[in-house]
Amino acid sequence: MKKKEQQMNQVIETMLSHRSIRKYSQQPVSNEDLDIIIRSAQAAPSWVNGQHVTIISIKDPDRRKKMSELAGNQKHIIEAPIFLVFCADFHRIKVACEMEGIEFKAAENPDLLLVGTIDVGIALGNAITAAESLGLGTVPIGGIRRSPLEYIELLNLPEYVIPVTGLCIGYPSEIPDLVPRLPKAAVFHEETYKKNIHEEIKTFNQIHIEATKGRQSGGSTWTQRMANFYKDPFYVNDGYKNVGKMLKQQGFAKSKK
Ligand SMILES: Cc1cc2nc3c(=O)[nH]c(=O)nc-3n(C[C@H](O)[C@H](O)[C@H](O)COP(=O)(O)O)c2cc1C
Repeated sequence: MKKKEQQMNQVIETMLSHRSIRKYSQQPVSNEDLDIIIRSAQAAPSWVNGQHVTIISIKDPDRRKKMSELAGNQKHIIEAPIFLVFCADFHRIKVACEMEGIEFKAAENPDLLLVGTIDVGIALGNAITAAESLGLGTVPIGGIRRSPLEYIELLNLPEYVIPVTGLCIGYPSEIPDLVPRLPKAAVFHEETYKKNIHEEIKTFNQIHIEATKGRQSGGSTWTQRMANFYKDPFYVNDGYKNVGKMLKQQGFAKSKK
């Protein structure tokens, strides 16, 4: 074994063994564990320390059922003991501006959407690693963006707050195999961007067929799967068509610049 691998610490081992969990036991998650997960998410770096993330936990079974349907009938939202929604949040920044007697205008700038989603992404990653290091399983739920307007209503989100992703957390009742990743050469480029990654993708197609045999959407190449998902501008059967409307409703992306 290589020296570096021997030195690999538990955090790295946890990250390298990551898999999304879609089947959960009914064993509850303790409040202490949830507290560690939320504090880990909060400890993530954020743009100008603006901490543009709010996490909402949903316990009520009827609301979970509704949210599961709205996210494309994803049963794990009901099954997992914890369901969190991660929001990009500029309401707090608006309040901060008001407290300083300044009008909040930055939502005109589309960059703010990058700021908010990056902050959510890092916080989500921290939460996942924290949960997995406690022996829990997770799966992010981007399917909430199938019904962003309904989620906003159910969560009572004010202007300048958008739902970005959900996260199911619980003890796994089934641990799936690792999902393979592209060859490193396809995603790590040195000095400049390398456009010709066809060979790496072809190699990955074969790995993907083998690895996904027997899975629900398995037995296909990665390129088939991606092309099929992205063939409509608003993805699978236009399933994500209300995101633009939702961004405008919440006060973003109004600038003509
Ligand atoms: C932002 C985000 C949203 C996701 N949304 C969903 C989802 O709605 N439903 C689901 O079952 N998996 C969802 N996933 C999980 C991915 O499908 C999964 O990470 C990917 O297939 C790789 O598998 P792995 O996590 O087991 O390695 C999401 C992942 C991310 C990062």
